[in-house]
Amino acid sequence: MHFLLVNYKKNNSHNYKEKETMNVSIKELADLVQRSDKIIKHIKTHIFSPDGQKRFDKTFKIGEASALIGRHPTTIREAEKQGAISADRNEGSRIRGFSLEEINKARRHFNTQPRLGADEEAAVLSVHNFKGGVGKTSIAVHLAQWLAIQGFRVLLIDLDSQASATTLFGYTPDMDIDGDDTLLPFFEGTQRTMHYAIRDTQIENLSLIPANLQLYNAEYMVAANHEQRPIYSYLPEGIEGIKKDFEVIIIDPPPALGMLSINALVAATSLLVPMPPRMLDFTSSLQFFNMLHETLEEIQEHFGQEISYDFVKLVTSKKKQRTKNEKYARAEDDILELARNVFGKEYMLDSIIYESTAIDNAASEFKTLFEIQGQTTGYKSYRSAMASIDSMCEEVLHELLAYWPSLKTKMKSA
Ligand SMILES: Nc1ncnc2c1ncn2[C@@H]1O[C@H](COP(=O)(O)OP(=O)(O)O)[C@@H](O)[C@H]1O
Ligand SMILES: [Mg+2]
Repeated sequence: MHFLLVNYKKNNSHNYKEKETMNVSIKELADLVQRSDKIIKHIKTHIFSPDGQKRFDKTFKIGEASALIGRHPTTIREAEKQGAISADRNEGSRIRGFSLEEINKARRHFNTQPRLGADEEAAVLSVHNFKGGVGKTSIAVHLAQWLAIQGFRVLLIDLDSQASATTLFGYTPDMDIDGDDTLLPFFEGTQRTMHYAIRDTQIENLSLIPANLQLYNAEYMVAANHEQRPIYSYLPEGIEGIKKDFEVIIIDPPPALGMLSINALVAATSLLVPMPPRMLDFTSSLQFFNMLHETLEEIQEHFGQEISYDFVKLVTSKKKQRTKNEKYARAEDDILELARNVFGKEYMLDSIIYESTAIDNAASEFKTLFEIQGQTTGYKSYRSAMASIDSMCEEVLHELLAYWPSLKTKMKSA
C-alpha cells in the first residue's frame, strides 16, 4: 500500500498552508468529496487490472483440481489427453495450473457439478449480527467465493448500504454502482422481481447483487409502505422468484435492526452469526439473539408468518492469535470457552477465524484470500488464514448438505 501513497502525494499535493483557519461549509464539503473521488480513482487504477476490471487468476494444481472436480488425477489427465480440458502454465512459472473455467469445464464433462435434487431447495444464508465490525462481510464474501469455487451456483446479496461486500468485488459503490443497480427499485416497487440486479462476477458461478449508499432509502420506503405491504415480505418474495437458479444465496445485511435486516432474517433459511470472542462482542451477540427472538415472535403474532431456520450457528471470528500466553489471549480463550459451554455444538461452529493480517491486507486491496495467493503478506500468515477460512466453509457446507440428501449422495460418490 505504501507505494500508492507515495505516488498519490507526488501527483496530488494540496496546498495546506493557504489558510490559517478553516470554516467547513457546503463549499468545503464539496471540495472534500472531490478529493475523495480523486483518491478513489487513483487507488482503482493502481490496484485493479489495466481495464479496471477484476479478474480471477487463481489456478489450481492437479491435486487441488482433482478434489474440486471430484475425479482422480489419472482420470483428469486422460481427459486432458482427449482434449476435453487443458491446464495452463502460469506466467513465469513451470508449474501447470487449471483455471476455474477449466475446472468447471471438467465438472461438466464428468457431470460432477454440485446441483440440487428435484425436491431440494436453495439455501438462504444470512450472515447476521446487529453489530458492525465483527466480520460479517468478510465471512459472507469468503464463503460465497469458496462455495462458487466448489462449483455451487451462488448469489451474494449486498444489503448493506455501506457496500463493503460490493467493494470486495472491485466496485467503488458510489461511482460504479447506481441506485438502480441495487435492490432499491425492488423495494420501491418499480421492479417486480430481483432479476435486473443480478450480475456476474470475476468468479464463474458467483453472482452479485451490489449495494451503494442509496440503498439506505429502502429503509424509509418499506416503513412508509407498511399499510400496503408487510414490511418483512419483500426479500422472501424476491428470493422465491430467483432461487431456482442457485444452490446458495448469501445475504450480507446491514448492522442494525432495520427494515432490510428484518427482510433478511425472514428470507433466511439459516443464520451464521459472527462473534469475536471479546466481552463487548459477546454480550452484543447475546443481545442479538434476544432481539431476534422478539422480532420473529412479533412477526409471527402480527402476520401469522411461521419462521424457522435449518440452523443458527455462531462463528468465532477475528480471534487474536498470540504466540505468548498474554492477558488478551487468555481473556479471549475464557470467553470462547464460556461461549462453547453456553451454546455448545448445536449453536456454534468448531472453526475459529483468527484475526489475520492476510485477510486485512487483502481487504485493503479490495481482495479476498482467494485472490492474493500469498504474495501480499507472508506466506505463513496466508496459509493459516486460508486454513481457518477453509475449515469454516467446510463446516457450513456440511450443515447445508444435511438438508440436501440427494446432492450429498452425489458428492460422496464422486
Ligand atoms: N479475520 C480477520 N482478520 C483480520 N481482519 C479482519 C478479519 N475479518 C474482518 N476483518 C477486517 O475487520 C473489518 C470489519 O470486518 P467486516 O467483515 O467488514 O465486518 P462487518 O461486516 O461485521 O462490519 C474490515 O476492515 C475487515 O477487513
Ligand atoms: Mg459488513
